Amino acid sequence: MGKDTLTIIDNRTGRTYEVPIFYGTYPKYGAAIRATDLRQIKVDEDDFGLMSYDPAFLNTASTRSRITFIDGERGILRYRGYPIEVLAERSTYLEVAYLLLHGELPTRSQLESWTHEIMHHTFIHESIKKFLDGFHYDAHPMGMLIGTVGALSTFYPEAKHIHDPAVRRRQIVRLIAKMPTIAAFAYRHSRGLPYVYPDNELSYTGNFLNMLFKTTELKYKPNPVLERALDVLFILHADHEQNCSTNVMRSIGSSHVDPYSAVAGAAAALYGPLHGGANEQVLRMLQEIGSKDRVPAYIRRVKAGEVLLMGFGHRVYKNYDPRAKIIKQVAYEVFEVTGTNPLLEIALELERIALEDEYFVTRRLYPNVDFYSGLIYQAMGFPVEMFPVLFAIPRTSGWLAHWEEMLQDPEQKISRPRQIYDGPDVRDYVPLEEREVRAPA
Ligand code: CMC
Repeated sequence: MGKDTLTIIDNRTGRTYEVPIFYGTYPKYGAAIRATDLRQIKVDEDDFGLMSYDPAFLNTASTRSRITFIDGERGILRYRGYPIEVLAERSTYLEVAYLLLHGELPTRSQLESWTHEIMHHTFIHESIKKFLDGFHYDAHPMGMLIGTVGALSTFYPEAKHIHDPAVRRRQIVRLIAKMPTIAAFAYRHSRGLPYVYPDNELSYTGNFLNMLFKTTELKYKPNPVLERALDVLFILHADHEQNCSTNVMRSIGSSHVDPYSAVAGAAAALYGPLHGGANEQVLRMLQEIGSKDRVPAYIRRVKAGEVLLMGFGHRVYKNYDPRAKIIKQVAYEVFEVTGTNPLLEIALELERIALEDEYFVTRRLYPNVDFYSGLIYQAMGFPVEMFPVLFAIPRTSGWLAHWEEMLQDPEQKISRPRQIYDGPDVRDYVPLEEREVRAPA
């Protein structure tokens, strides 16, 4: 093998430049040049220097990270080196959250004190209840979650001291602990039901189910199959490297704002139908299709470019999303308890046709994490509006792991991309009375 450099010839000037190539853990999946090395490439001294143009970051690494590895070609996902399949089978969500944040799986005593810490921060300030009461009865729970998480920064003003590791740590615990409570309260509010306070004797997901679904019983007992299924879903959603909302978390966090404001922004990014809002849209799509025999007609509409096949396709995976495989398995376990979701038949038929169809095959479109998760959530009794919320709760640990990593990375600064200006050159100001109507540009 030759040198780890790239030689660039600028044909405008005939000059040659040599820039270093550097690598991550896997040279084949992480070779890069520094975009700032291009700035030396100039036509003359006044020239700003060459930039790289990359809308939507299709080929730009914005950071070096040690948290999550994805090989989209081979359908591989690992948190801190551990394959997602192993974590889903053998870990709990809180163990995985610890792993993402600390880099190592906890020992038994570390896990005990981490679980204790999280479960003792699940209560929210009574004023937050009043705050939630102010939302309309039909407010989308994701909107309520975003607004309320943002408001938490006003309850914990110390959170702005982001350079103090102990302060950061406290907010991380609070956020992981309080997200399920806010989510559950938002749900109860939209149903007109009284809020159920956390039961810290239950597991993280067991307590979440308690706060959502407890009615008159003295002590809520979560169904162990559903409790574990939700925990597995939380593990699968915990992180996904530089996805849209994580990029937002890092970007907002780079301004050194408090983490509640940054998480509110990240959750807002997640809410969109192309990201975490897709699971809600999958269900709406399946309901619209209505029956198995109407699947071919829907596929025709997708191919005509009229609609997207929600829950299909991914920026990174060009193979079956490994999370979708696990979720499909979990779906059958949940349906044993809840009875089969009648929409499953339509989903399976959609998948069968799409995986054989030339349109999807050539574009390498496979089911993603959102394709089957909604069917499980619905069978468990969640209304569709809650689906993106169920994504936001576990993703909080991933957002926070990236926030921590970003703040401790000496190479990171305030996030601020460049642009290529395409607008008009400098113009003379025209006084109002002299302006003529012009066709819009
Ligand atoms: N249905 C139909 N066609 C699709 C779909 C789809 N779901 N996804 C991509 N395509 C087509 C797209 O039209 C394009 O075709 P052409 O080359 O003819 O223009 C081609 O496939 C490449 O797609 P792209 O839009 O360039 O891909 P992208 O990387 O920019 O978008 C995506 C990725 C996830 C936004 C997109 O696949 C999509 O909109 N999927 C549906 C929404 C969805 O399920 N989102 C959840 C993503 S996974 C979880 C998460 O991130 O939260």
